Amino acid sequence: MLNWKLRSSHKAKVNTPELEKAMSSYLKTLSSPDIGFFGLPNRKDLVEETQKVFNQFKHKKYFIHIGIGGSALGPEMLLSALGNGSGVKFVFINNIDPDDMCRKLDKVDMKEALIYVVSKSGTTAETVAAMAILMNALKDAGIKENQYKDHFVFCTDPVKGELRKLGKEWGVHTLDIPSNVGGRFSVLTPVGFLPAMFSGINVQDVLEGAEDIQRHLSDPKIGASFFELAQWIKELHDQGVNQTVLMPYSSLLKDYSSWFVQLWAESLGKNGKGLTPIPAYGATDQHSQMQLFMEGPNDKVMMLIEVEKFHNDYPLKNSLSGEAFKNLAPFKLSDLMKAEFEGTLTALQENGRHVVHLQIPSLQEEYVGQLILFAECLTVMVGELIKVDPFNQPGVEAGKKYANEWLKNHQ
Ligand code: PA5
Repeated sequence: MLNWKLRSSHKAKVNTPELEKAMSSYLKTLSSPDIGFFGLPNRKDLVEETQKVFNQFKHKKYFIHIGIGGSALGPEMLLSALGNGSGVKFVFINNIDPDDMCRKLDKVDMKEALIYVVSKSGTTAETVAAMAILMNALKDAGIKENQYKDHFVFCTDPVKGELRKLGKEWGVHTLDIPSNVGGRFSVLTPVGFLPAMFSGINVQDVLEGAEDIQRHLSDPKIGASFFELAQWIKELHDQGVNQTVLMPYSSLLKDYSSWFVQLWAESLGKNGKGLTPIPAYGATDQHSQMQLFMEGPNDKVMMLIEVEKFHNDYPLKNSLSGEAFKNLAPFKLSDLMKAEFEGTLTALQENGRHVVHLQIPSLQEEYVGQLILFAECLTVMVGELIKVDPFNQPGVEAGKKYANEWLKNHQ
């Protein structure tokens, strides 16, 4: 099971009755009908619907995922962490860089491709643009509009938006993102499920992991330690700590850091508040950003994730006599990772840095599910404590609005 420990000289100022009260009010908030992400592990219907679509299209050789922000980062994170190379070739169109688009689409045989268009609003310009390009690519491959249902699947709001309308018009399968689940909280919906299924990931196990977190937060002891963590972040934030580093010691969790960055930044960064998220991963970033984390301004919450057991390993045995080689010879690669992790953790603590040590037993579906729901719940809890609405993103909306105005004015 995922667990967390605070490694900091700062202690959160909370007592047990306060903790219990705060936790029960938080759990009430999470079960309100406006907030859907916490209940997603129980939405088996969403898995079943996605499974049907997967069964129909599983023969496809290419999976083209179109989406941006919350409609892309979650699925990319799931695939990097857990994808087992099912043989399907994935193409993520998550930007509007024409050169990148060309490089990606050049490799695709459109007749063999399933195009998964994901947009909660169904109106995001970047996503609509990519869809238009893919429609032209289908046309070039001789595929007509009346065949779109064999090449497209949509994923959007159950009622609203252009995509929902088009889905009906074209007879294209359209999967639901529940209305009460926002983009960055949507990975545990068909947004993440369909690409995950194509990649051989056991979606049910991911959800079971998320369900563990649901259960644990309702447990008074674990719930209290979770609240203590959120309160600790809030107090540091009040003292001027305004950055959060997320640093898993795993290359395969690098995209988990990128996913977390969006979740944390878009949810908490408003009204002059927030803790700028910094993505990192160990041990690589020990040779890059760690100098600053260790001795730069002490204005960061450092969340380090340890993966206790790797699926593969390599002995470092060798017969060389040089010190660097000899020291490593009795060990395996995973031992070196452990040493780097422990060494950094100790040094950060000695330097008075504000560290949270997160630990998962291994990189498996259930633990990734736990990491996902844990991060979402923590984000919402910190949002409540620093008094911002974690579910809106007025700053993003403003940019979208001006971009659309620019297009109208330049026609
Ligand atoms: O979290 C969010 O709501 C945003 O980051 C969206 O995911 C992003 O703007 C894309 O929006 P949409 O899914 O509506 O295309």
